[in-house]
Amino acid sequence: MIDKATVQKITDTADIVEVVSDYVHLIKRGRNYVGLCPFHNEKTPSFSVNSVRNFCYCFSCKKGGSPVNFIMEKEGLSYHDALLHLAQKYGIKVEEKELSEDERRQLNERESLLLANEWASKKMEKALRDTEEGRAVGLQYLYQRGVTDEAIKKFRLGYNLDNGHSLYDDAKLEGMDLNSLAEVGVLGQSQKTPGAYYDRFRGRVIFPVLNPSGKVVALGGRDLKGGMAKYINSPESSIYKKSNELYGIFQAKGEIAKQDNCFLVEGYMDVIGMWQSGMENVVASSGTALTDGQIAMIHRFTNNITLIYDGDAAGIKASLRGIDMLLAHKMNVKVLLLPDGHDPDSFAREHTPEQFREYVQKHATDIIRFKAQVLLKDVGNDPQKRVAAIESVVSSLAHIPDKVKRNVYVQECSRILGVREEVIEGAVEKSRSDVVERQMRQRQTDEINRLDQQETNPQPDVSKQLRPTKGREIVEMYPYYPFERNIVFQCVRYGIMDFCEAEFEDGSLDMLSVAEYVAEEIQEDNIWFSFPAFAKTFNRILDLKEDFLNDNVAFNANLEKEKKEMLKVGYDEIASRDLNMEEIRRAERLLEDRVNEELAQRRFEFARYYVEQKLSSHHDDDVRRTVTEAMHEEQPLSNIYIRNNPVSERKMEIDRMRMLVPRGVLEWKNEMLNQMIRAKMKQLDSMIGRASHEEEQKILMETQALMEKRGQLGKVMGDRTIGKKIK
Ligand code: GTP
Ligand code: MN
Repeated sequence: MIDKATVQKITDTADIVEVVSDYVHLIKRGRNYVGLCPFHNEKTPSFSVNSVRNFCYCFSCKKGGSPVNFIMEKEGLSYHDALLHLAQKYGIKVEEKELSEDERRQLNERESLLLANEWASKKMEKALRDTEEGRAVGLQYLYQRGVTDEAIKKFRLGYNLDNGHSLYDDAKLEGMDLNSLAEVGVLGQSQKTPGAYYDRFRGRVIFPVLNPSGKVVALGGRDLKGGMAKYINSPESSIYKKSNELYGIFQAKGEIAKQDNCFLVEGYMDVIGMWQSGMENVVASSGTALTDGQIAMIHRFTNNITLIYDGDAAGIKASLRGIDMLLAHKMNVKVLLLPDGHDPDSFAREHTPEQFREYVQKHATDIIRFKAQVLLKDVGNDPQKRVAAIESVVSSLAHIPDKVKRNVYVQECSRILGVREEVIEGAVEKSRSDVVERQMRQRQTDEINRLDQQETNPQPDVSKQLRPTKGREIVEMYPYYPFERNIVFQCVRYGIMDFCEAEFEDGSLDMLSVAEYVAEEIQEDNIWFSFPAFAKTFNRILDLKEDFLNDNVAFNANLEKEKKEMLKVGYDEIASRDLNMEEIRRAERLLEDRVNEELAQRRFEFARYYVEQKLSSHHDDDVRRTVTEAMHEEQPLSNIYIRNNPVSERKMEIDRMRMLVPRGVLEWKNEMLNQMIRAKMKQLDSMIGRASHEEEQKILMETQALMEKRGQLGKVMGDRTIGKKIK
């Protein structure tokens, strides 16, 4: 358990723009920031970050929330781990209590593996420069391959001494966790002497693999002595899934977004070579075929990808692999073949950066055109090969989701392949439906697997209540669900704000908050929230009142201080101008109005955002989700308000609240009466001929009373003061 004060400190410190920026390239737009949503694939940015409210959300897939929520979703962490993640990012000390050995191990595993990698990386960076051997062997090798000091620093290249125990010795000396170092493959376990370790990367130049937030998740070590394995890499672990990482993404992500294009190369050295030639938007798949996860990672920053391969047969073959997947991700794919026998690294060494960049500009070809051309060249006079080539192109075309784009390609490929357009088009559309069906089935399988995994591996406090999959079930179990939802969402927005004065039983008058007003109103009719997540959230909002009153005192005291300061500065400024008495008076009035307006705005915002600020990082999943969802939903509305009426946004919001809250309560009550009346009618129906006249009469009266009450409801609408009651 993390204590409450620390949780508060973490949630207060974590800045949504900073947190999101580790994953998304953000562009400032007005008061907000926007970027490509990291939770789903998209071309146009629908992910918005509001720095004032410390909140992010995707208009399209509706994910996002507070920094904690964002990290939970993005890193797949529990609430607790997400807090630790943020604490670490901001260097906040977390002292945990009452953790079982088991819990602690689980919680700390990821952290300690990352720590082990970071520690080893630092050591090896240092060894490259600060040891005789590092300089003579490692650095010498890099220099000889044309790697600059700047690149060495940027990519954190290092060297592991050859004696086989330098890291092991240091680790023991510094009390590092040997198990973690072994798990990330920095140390190997000796076969001969159990319990002893050796340096696994000994005598190698080290290329650390950083994830998008700059954490070292793996190391690659290049052999310098002509040994069997040119490279050895870290083994897979809970922090490293090879197929999900891209070498260079941390260094390249900003430039990828800026250039709106990503170069994809094969190896570590290729990334560095291109980078040194001034093409910094480059990543490597490290010799394997691209995966969905890697494409999604690139897609967060751009829709455009240029594959770069050696122009030999193997390179051409490799370039055609995996393109269907890229097309399915709606990426625009180009391919660039380097002259036979060259990879980007060797090409960079033999050409100036200008020549290299020019070559890239000239030779990058659209992948489909490229594929058609390459396959055609192979065909010769063989009709069977020709059919196979056409089929293969058709299959790629079928993976393009956008119909317009598909048709453009159909035209072009028909020209290149010398086949009539209708023939290609027919084949593509037929194949397209297969592709779509396959993708759908795949998604289903993925979803089932995900659910299975959840079942065998239940998350600590995930509640399935808020977002049950079956809408119908909800309505049956909670017939007032939409009405409760509406009201609880209004209370997330306005809950703590003043609503009306109420007279208490002892004759005293007091201000009721919006949430308290709602509570009074519904209790009067014996209604309460039936949907558990809403009931919980609503109670939390009511509980906030006391905190709010306390915080408000401090807030206002501060504001008063600021007001004095603002006025003083203003008066001084006016006095320094050359004005007559009348002008001074006018200027001072203007100043006071302006200051008062500013303070009113600040006071308004303090109350307006108090609930979301306190509860959007709440530890209870139901509460946090309800609040997050409520915040998601209002955003577009607010924007419309701001656009139409920038000045009196505050007034309009208050008007909106005064209208929406009572109306929501009324609609809820009305629905309740409707259902009660319907039930009575049903009862009456079933009674006819079976019950006594008196009994029938009784039910009839009750029904009438309900109907009357329903009729009166409308009149209550405008009446906002509620009479004496309460404790
Ligand atoms: P240099 O040969 O030093 O230019 O390295 P490179 O990065 O250009 O390597 P190459 O193009 O031969 O291979 C591309 C990528 O495949 C490398 O960066 C590694 O990630 C990976 N790779 C190559 N050889 C090996 C190997 O022997 N073992 C493993 N695990 N990976 C390798
Ligand atoms: Mn190479």
